[in-house]
Amino acid sequence: MNSPLTNPLFEKYFEKVYGGRWNLIKESLTRHEKQVLRLNRFVSAEEKDLQKCEFLDNCFWKPVGYSLQKSGEGLYDFYVMDPASVVVALALEPKSSDDVLDMCAAPGGKTLILAEQMSVGAEEVLGTLVSNEMSESRRDRLMRVLHEYIPKDQRMFISVKGLDGNQYGLRNPETYDRILADVPCSGERHLLENSKEFALWSEKRTKNLAVRQYSLLSSAWLALKPGGRIVYSTCSISPEENDAVVAKLIKKRDPIILRPDWLTQIDFLEQTSHGYQILPDRSGFGPMYFSVIEKSI
Ligand SMILES: C[S@@+](CC[C@H](N)C(=O)[O-])C[C@H]1O[C@@H](n2cnc3c(N)ncnc32)[C@H](O)[C@@H]1O
Repeated sequence: MNSPLTNPLFEKYFEKVYGGRWNLIKESLTRHEKQVLRLNRFVSAEEKDLQKCEFLDNCFWKPVGYSLQKSGEGLYDFYVMDPASVVVALALEPKSSDDVLDMCAAPGGKTLILAEQMSVGAEEVLGTLVSNEMSESRRDRLMRVLHEYIPKDQRMFISVKGLDGNQYGLRNPETYDRILADVPCSGERHLLENSKEFALWSEKRTKNLAVRQYSLLSSAWLALKPGGRIVYSTCSISPEENDAVVAKLIKKRDPIILRPDWLTQIDFLEQTSHGYQILPDRSGFGPMYFSVIEKSI
């Protein structure tokens, strides 16, 4: 059986994609990802002399050995996240009046950010947030996160659902203003930690996953209102699961690919043909890919 560092199919495929950069990327994938403490804006937490993360609001560098604590309100002050995930959730930019779907939501870091964007500072939330997760055990975790971070009286606009994301397009056509499709992916960082899974990697596997991902993205497209926005994201470094999935949507549905101005100020984002990539060899964050997609009116 292949050891974690010697799957020749994997090496060959990614060497072709990333050329001379591949060795650096691969090495960085085996290091711990850099994480930040994201302030829970539903509680008025003290900043506890933490060092601010200079490029992301409400984020602080996580000190070594830091353990999360609940505040006086019985909620956690911070959620530990990769800054790349924070950017993905922020890119959806939901308003308090929007109907929002987080199609693959567990464990829930991005859902928390969407909930904050919709409600913190708003006079009233007129929209809704559906946090959907198909796996029952992961959905339990998602519910726990919502209960541990959002006061009860402020989570009335959030509902947790357990559908297969593929069902939304047919069941709820043109229903949502904003949809986050943070789809299951190859997750090469985790593959490199799991020798059995790593040995099973093949180009066919990433292509098969891309078919499932396109199906979820198509469902999101059908469930999106005209004028609405989807953020499609993965934590894969495989172009098959990233730009190629969005390229298929472009070919079939003619969406508008957005390049929001504020994203140009985040220097760890690298532009790809249809979106952005964050790779850990340069920033220590990610990997993450996302594309910001709009349906014309
Ligand atoms: C990348 S993770 C989502 C991470 C989450 N957005 C967050 O930030 O915490 C993908 C999730 O999709 C779920 N999933 C897989 N297939 C699904 C499907 N067909 N419909 C809905 N959820 C699905 C997985 O169980 C997994 O929890």
